[in-house]
Amino acid sequence: MAFDFDMIQRVYDGFGERVEAARQVVGRPLTLSEKILYAHLSAGIPQKAYNRGKDYVDFAPDRVAMQDATAQMALLQFMQAGRPQVAVPSTVHCDHLIQAEVGAAKDLENANNKNREVYDFLASISNKYGIGFWKPGAGIIHQVVLENYAFPGGLMIGTDSHTPNAGGLGMIAIGVGGADACDVMAGLPWELKMPKLIGVKLTGKLSGWASAKDVILRVAGILTVKGGTGCIVEYFGEGADSLSATGKATICNMGAEIGATTSIFAYDDKMADYLRSTERADIAEAANAVRQYLRSDDEVYADPTTYYDQVIEINLSDLEPHINGPYTPDLAWPLSKFAQAVKENGWPEKLDVGLIGSCTNSSYEDLTRAASVAQQAITKNLKTHSEYTVTPGSELVRYTTERDGLLDTFEQIGGVVLANACGPCIGQWARHIDDPNRKNSIITSFNRNFAKRNDGLANTHSFVASPELVTAMAIAGSLTFNPMTDKLTNEAGEEVMLDEPQGIELPVSGFAVEDAGYQAPAEDGSGVQVVVSPTSDRLQLLESFKAWEGTDLNGLKVLIKAKGKCTTDHISMAGPWLKYRGHLDNISNNMLIGAVNYFNEKTNTVKNQLTGEYGEVPAVQRAYKAAGIGSIVVGDENYGEGSSREHAAMEPRFLGVRAILVKSFARIHETNLKKQGMLALTFADPDDYEDIREDDTIDILGLTNFTPNGQLTIRLNHADGTTQEFQVNHTYNETQIEWFKAGSALNLIKQKQNV
Ligand code: F3S
Repeated sequence: MAFDFDMIQRVYDGFGERVEAARQVVGRPLTLSEKILYAHLSAGIPQKAYNRGKDYVDFAPDRVAMQDATAQMALLQFMQAGRPQVAVPSTVHCDHLIQAEVGAAKDLENANNKNREVYDFLASISNKYGIGFWKPGAGIIHQVVLENYAFPGGLMIGTDSHTPNAGGLGMIAIGVGGADACDVMAGLPWELKMPKLIGVKLTGKLSGWASAKDVILRVAGILTVKGGTGCIVEYFGEGADSLSATGKATICNMGAEIGATTSIFAYDDKMADYLRSTERADIAEAANAVRQYLRSDDEVYADPTTYYDQVIEINLSDLEPHINGPYTPDLAWPLSKFAQAVKENGWPEKLDVGLIGSCTNSSYEDLTRAASVAQQAITKNLKTHSEYTVTPGSELVRYTTERDGLLDTFEQIGGVVLANACGPCIGQWARHIDDPNRKNSIITSFNRNFAKRNDGLANTHSFVASPELVTAMAIAGSLTFNPMTDKLTNEAGEEVMLDEPQGIELPVSGFAVEDAGYQAPAEDGSGVQVVVSPTSDRLQLLESFKAWEGTDLNGLKVLIKAKGKCTTDHISMAGPWLKYRGHLDNISNNMLIGAVNYFNEKTNTVKNQLTGEYGEVPAVQRAYKAAGIGSIVVGDENYGEGSSREHAAMEPRFLGVRAILVKSFARIHETNLKKQGMLALTFADPDDYEDIREDDTIDILGLTNFTPNGQLTIRLNHADGTTQEFQVNHTYNETQIEWFKAGSALNLIKQKQNV
């Protein structure tokens, strides 16, 4: 058994009491999100209520999940913490590194060969520290979590942006960076700004071609890619209760596309059915016992506008199937308007490939609905005109759908069943296309459709829809096909229509699997060796960063004064660098290569003050490091916005940058810098940014009296011999100053461990 029932029972044991106490403090009825959040405060119920959208709050998550691309650095850091075991149940899922090319078996074999070293590392480190390990081919992180670990009322974090998928089982599940995962696994609290709340009231009932996917495609159209930022989206109403748990998960999963912190549904009978069907009847019983706390209070449902920051209403009975895209998931088209949009915008009408599956849409219900459409191609003598691929979300789903004949149906219409992995959803797709520069269209049941996301080709127009609609379009081979109104001509020259899809929510004969692909950790992992080859180019053990030397920092060189936008992508690019996510030295060769140098407006070209020559940013910084000289990076507004990847903070730290001085920080990046023992400073007067010159040597003064709410002083030593001083601000609290002094948050954990 993979899940930890005792842990869940412990969460439920005190749940009601904490919710009642929170209701007293907040002084009004509570939404479901508030109940779960207040029940998971790391320091217990506070004296006064937190302000949504304002206050930073420390939480104690119940679980951590990591996928293989992000787990590497998270676990390399965890090794540094000096803990014998993870403090909360945690899992690793090998899903991102499998490239789709010919089909499941061969692709999996290739991935095992190519990534053997990374997989062995993840397997052994999981074994050592008490982490559940899901092998390559076991499935996609979010589907596996839904089937095994998600539980109503729980709080989890995951190192992947679609972690909110577990909201389909009434859990608050939030995507984070590896450094956050490391902290929680080490037993530290996890900080989050108390989210605002968006309520989505669902009335009516889905029918015909409309599916749960269309709910979120419609919501994305309403809220846009930014509309959910800083918010939890809570779904409620009789329409919500009518959706299957996996349908709910689809909606929560794609809440990531509107920028939401997470999305959630309240506990109901559909969730209980899913828990029982996945052999977790005991969790369903335990949840039933605290059911009233796993839903918002009745007053909230009666008057939602009073309790949510924003309320949207959607009538499922009227909901049309949607197709969103291209290039952005919030460009939402009702099916009846889509063909016209295709023609008016000149998008390629011929559909090259239809792809179903992914963590968003690979439930048993999804695949039965898609198969009911595929079956019609067989019985109605229709040829499938597009390429067609199927990605089961897990081995449990794959085995069960194979047993029930669904995969055979897909194969009969020319479908290729890919490995239970991310594959084309994350660009791990060796696509067969005659001309990679040809404008072409594909349609997927995935979640993201940014340019190049699926196949790396700029001219691919990628659209997102439900699996059943993708299947119908693939049969037709045309983007302008509307299965609700259009006929198709079969191989005998007859005109036929596709009937509405039919789904089966949960397998009638139950789920089955021979080998789910799970490796339980050793009871006592102390003797387990974690092997990382010193000659590896993909993995590298971390060394502790040096503690602060106890003095002011003098003689720092200006590495770069970044101009304008400098996101985590500018600081630590993704794409081909994904390969080095477990090797800090190698990935540091991308440090700041996307940032624009203020002094010459160029990227990746900065002056080496030791030679006077211009060089690439990482090379110049390595020269300073070799000479034992520290440096400083200067930046503009909202420095470090974008992803939460900790590499953007670890790389400069590793290469010897001592401080980042900017007009303002993106919050997560600022925290990441602090965690890595860097100085994250802001100009007290933003105009001082202008005074920093390319040849400056900089001193940071006041560190021996580094205190919360205080300021530090910057002294610019200009090359002409003049000097200039100004004040800079910081937001370090007592603990964060300790991180700085120790050299990193991890060093501090380790020190405390050794006391
Ligand atoms: Fe994987 Fe795509 Fe989901 S990359 S985790 S299938 S969003």
